[in-house]
Formats: sequence, structure tokens, C-alpha cells
Amino acid sequence: MSVRRAHSLAWPFIAFFVLASGCAVESERAPAAGPPPATLASPDIDNRIDEFTSWIEVDLDAIGANLEALRQHTGVEIMPVVKNNAYGHGLVPIVRYLAGQGVERVFVANVEEAMALRQAGVDLAIVNMGPLFTDGQHTRVVELGITQVVFSEDVVQRLSEASAAVGQDAGVFVKVDTGLRRVGVFHDEAGDFIEHAASLPGISIDGIFSTFMQTPEEDRAMLTRLLAVETDLRARGIDPGLRSMASTDAILHFPESHLDLVRPGMSLYGIYPEEKDLDAGVTLTPALSLKARIELVKWVDEGDSVTYWGRFIAPSRMMIATVHAGFYDGVPRELANVGSVFYAGEFRDIIGSVSLNHVVVDVTGTDASPGDTVEVIGHAGANAVSAIAETANWMVYSLLNHLNPQTPRVYYEGGEPAMLLEP
Ligand SMILES: Cc1ncc(COP(=O)(O)O)c(C=O)c1O
Repeated sequence: MSVRRAHSLAWPFIAFFVLASGCAVESERAPAAGPPPATLASPDIDNRIDEFTSWIEVDLDAIGANLEALRQHTGVEIMPVVKNNAYGHGLVPIVRYLAGQGVERVFVANVEEAMALRQAGVDLAIVNMGPLFTDGQHTRVVELGITQVVFSEDVVQRLSEASAAVGQDAGVFVKVDTGLRRVGVFHDEAGDFIEHAASLPGISIDGIFSTFMQTPEEDRAMLTRLLAVETDLRARGIDPGLRSMASTDAILHFPESHLDLVRPGMSLYGIYPEEKDLDAGVTLTPALSLKARIELVKWVDEGDSVTYWGRFIAPSRMMIATVHAGFYDGVPRELANVGSVFYAGEFRDIIGSVSLNHVVVDVTGTDASPGDTVEVIGHAGANAVSAIAETANWMVYSLLNHLNPQTPRVYYEGGEPAMLLEP
């Protein structure tokens, strides 16, 4: 089935509703698909930033460079994983940008994300890996031309019925469980399941995919199992469509698994999930930073305690700044007394607790003053995503996926602010 399968007439109306009702501020500013036109000019965005306590900056050029690096490295179609608010980078702006970079389809976590994209006017193929529970959801997925991940007979049956009611095909990607034992139809039952699904009216098999355990010996066996499903389907006269196994780990380390389509998340956003990834021969550039403003600067004397539970005792007289970002924004509490932020050209220690909306930083020797900008998460050194995750004993995945969707996001292209997303 074509990527451009006619999306139902319903979604432009939904998009109009969202624009008219004003419940999607971002959509109001950039209603069309493709690269986001900013209705706020750069200086206006700068003025707005001046008012923020904390905000996220996303370098779209970095994402474009990572996409290109992954294309060069794999030579196959890239289906960006934009689930969970594009790993904290902001769903709609990222997908709009990717559409302008020639991406044909994206992978989302749930039907709400798929609908948010359609409501924003995004016309790419969207593959939804989240479950459907109600008849209404099955119908909407078909109406909106969303490709549904399936592995149960109940869901394909209901999609087939929705397809008849709506009058257009339902595209599906079949998730095959090749050994992860999370979701998916077990590999030795996949041939029968897919044959049955393909026989149902209105069901179009767009692809088959699976997820690795990320254990090299097991992964080889898992790839063999997916390829056996393909062979079985072809013997039954069924075209399996696109075959996909690889996410970032296999993209970087297991080239035979690239097949027709790879599904990068972390690497697209410029992050190497593990140290071994640095030597994989793919240059990635982080795209995201979290910035916040200094709210107050004060002096404390030797022996003074700073923040909750006397967590920090000043070893000498020092100047400290209270910065307006905390674990509400996604700053790990585990950075208490061990994390760093970047300010005035240097890494500066976080002292005492990380609280809901604040961290306190040692700014001795600077001329810090309220309103100054501090980089809480940066691109390199002690406050890079991977360094913070290591210091906090978090996964890099947890760090990006815990960023608050309510935090404003500013998107840069060519070094200039191109779009502002305010929740
Ligand atoms: C099915 C699937 N494919 C691909 C990915 C992307 O993984 P990564 O961020 O490691 O590239 C994910 C992320 O969780 C996933 O669930």
C-alpha cells in the first residue's frame, strides 16, 4: 500500500478544529507539513526566550547531519523513532523538519502521538507501535491513514472491519517476537498469523519487524528467525513488505541486520548510547540542550549549609547562584553535590540538593547576576547527556525521555531561532 494512501477526509477537519480552538499553540504557528515556517521572526523569539525560566534548545541542523550520517552508514531507508515526544526533542517540530529532509515514515509510541501529527497537518506515513483498545480507535487509525503495528488476530479483524466501514485499506506492520518476549507474534506462529491477516479484506501487509535483545550471539539467532519468517511467507505467496530489525545498537554494530529499513532513535538525536558506540565509525552530533536562568546570587560563609538536609556545607566563603531548573524539568536528583552546569565559559559545581525547580551552583569568581543563562544539559564535557547520565547512574534513554514536555522548546536552523514551541 502506498505511503500516500489517501488519508481520510477527516483529518484536515480535525486539524482545522485544533487551529480554530487554539488548543495546539504550536499548530497555530506552523500549520503546514514540511520545514516549519516560523510566524515569529528570530528577534521576536529571542525576546520571548528572555522571559523563560528554563527552556530546551534543539539544533535541527545536527539532526539533519545525523540523519545523513545514518543514511550513508546503512544505505537503507531510515524510519526515525519519534516516540515519546521525539525523545524529548518535541514531536511535531521534529517530524516537520524530518519531512523536509526526505524522510518517508516515522515511528510513534501510541495513537495519541500519531493523531497529534495528523492534527498538525503532517502527511508522512506514521507507524503506530502502541495498542488500540476501542472500536473508535481502530476506525480513527484507518481514517487517518496510520499504519498500525499488529500481532493479534483481534486487532487485524477489527482493522479489517474498520477498513470496510471507512472505505480504505488498513496498512499494518507485523511485530514478530524473535526472542525478546515482550510484544509480537512468536516467530514460529508468524507465518500462519500473517497469512490469515493478509486474507482479511482491506488489510495490507506493509512490513514485518522485530527488536533485538542487544546481546550479540542472541541477536544473530533473532535475525535468522525473522528471515525464516520472510522465507515462509514467500513460500506461501505472500509479500512480507519491508523487513526491519535494527535500532541504534544494530545500526552501529550489526550491518547484516539493516535489511530494508532501520529504526534509529538515540543516534538520530546525536547520542551514542554506550561507550563502545564511539568507535563504530559514525559521527553523531547532539542536538539538545537545556538552559535556565539564574534567579538569585548570594554569598555564603564557611560552614554555612546550602539546600535541604544541610546537604552541602560551604568549605569557605563562596558565591552561589540559584538556577531555575530542577527535577520538574528532568534534571536528575542524583546530581546533588556531584553534577555540573556550564556557565561563563566553565563547568561549575552543583552544590546541595537538586529540588523541584532549582539547582544551586558555585559561581565564585564570576560576576553572575539574576537573568544570566546557565547551560544545564549541553553537548560536550561534564554536562553532556551521556556525562550527566553516567554521573546520575541513569541510562541516556531515561534522561532524554524524562525531559518535561511542558518546557518551551526553541528550534535553530543555520544558527538562527527558526521556531518556538510553547505548550
Ligand atoms: C521498536 C523500536 N524500534 C526502535 C527503537 C529505537 O531504539 P534506539 O533509540 O536504541 O535507536 C525503539 C526504542 O525504544 C523501539 O521501541
